[in-house]
Amino acid sequence: MSLHFTEEQQMIRRMVRDFAEREIAPFIEKMEENDEYPVDIIRKMGANGLMGIPIAEEWGGAGSDFISYIIAIHEISKVSAAVGVILSVHTSLGTNPILYFGSDEQKKKYIPKLTSGEYIGAFALTEPNSGSDSGSISTSAVRRGDHYILNGSKMFITSGEYADVFITFAVTDIAQGRRGISAFIVDKDTPGFTIGKKEKKMGLHGSGTTQLIFENAEVPAYNLLGAEGEGFKIALGNLDVGRIGIAAQALGISEAALEHSIQYAKVRQQFGRPISANQAIAFKLADMATQVEAARLLVYQAADLRMRGIKCTKEASIAKLYSTDTAMHAATEAVQIHGGYGYSREYPVERLFRDAKATQIYEGTNEIQRLVISNHLLKD
Ligand code: CAA
Repeated sequence: MSLHFTEEQQMIRRMVRDFAEREIAPFIEKMEENDEYPVDIIRKMGANGLMGIPIAEEWGGAGSDFISYIIAIHEISKVSAAVGVILSVHTSLGTNPILYFGSDEQKKKYIPKLTSGEYIGAFALTEPNSGSDSGSISTSAVRRGDHYILNGSKMFITSGEYADVFITFAVTDIAQGRRGISAFIVDKDTPGFTIGKKEKKMGLHGSGTTQLIFENAEVPAYNLLGAEGEGFKIALGNLDVGRIGIAAQALGISEAALEHSIQYAKVRQQFGRPISANQAIAFKLADMATQVEAARLLVYQAADLRMRGIKCTKEASIAKLYSTDTAMHAATEAVQIHGGYGYSREYPVERLFRDAKATQIYEGTNEIQRLVISNHLLKD
């Protein structure tokens, strides 16, 4: 793997950095204080080609490579991890399943609207009683004529508040266990489908996390994605890609924590000198930088494998595990270095601390990542 970005990748990095500073940074206060979903920013991201970066131009995407997409999540998350997760879920989990498993009609109907940002995509797998054990979902889908009737509820759905398209997993054959799970494209205006309560979260304010309720929801049979029973594989296969996105999001948080800490440690004076003159602080910075560098290599290694079409389930889990633990550690140390100011909402490290925690939990807790990694080691 080359450790250097190509000209095009560097150009995308500059463009995304500039966009994040100009368009996203001024909106953070509204997201934090009012939990406001950045819908106008998402539309602008669409207009700038950011909502379908790795998707071919024939589908309205930017036609860039997978590393460019990861660079975009990484850079946006340095400014706002909430916008970072919206982008990652929209592309990896809201759009890719249609691209890879959809019929031509489904692709034509949905992909150009998703890549342009006209539609926002969401991924509805998790339920109140099914989180890590995603094979145990109980939302049901029963075929009736030319529709499936869905009943059940979903939980913790990123962008649920504003999404237009929900990749939804439901049981079509209970006797088959995980192999009886199927995937559906559910439109926001489906009769019997409603957006439930919005979660009041510790962090990632503005990412519009909601419940979803299906009460005899009538989903047209032509919105079945792939074949009946293929749902679990569609979910896990796309989560490989999604986890690289979350690893990149965490990398953005870590880098922001480190940069804020360096700046603060150089200007904060105590005992007549900057606190960076104390090894207790300087060594914290050294440890943070070492871990951030290692996380960066793991994230881009997984992205490189994915870009070259090589199966990367284990590497995606390793990157997700290490990068998100690094984000939590870096944000914790950043708060410590900032002292009382770090605990105050006046400084951004408090937000980084709250945002980092989610990355260790969603798209598979880090305990699940260890399970995936160890299963691969022992199977080999
Ligand atoms: N790609 C494709 N198929 C895969 C796969 C992969 N990476 N991993 C497993 N599969 C297939 C297996 O081949 C197997 O197929 P068969 O039934 O045909 O043999 C099937 O899936 C089951 O595999 P396992 O035996 O490994 O499944 P398991 O039930 O023992 O364990 C698990 C699965 C790893 C624990 C899985 O349930 C899991 O990843 N859980 C975490 C759930 C999760 O990540 N949720 C994220 C929610 S989305 C989200 O958070 C988005 C957001 O909003 C931020």
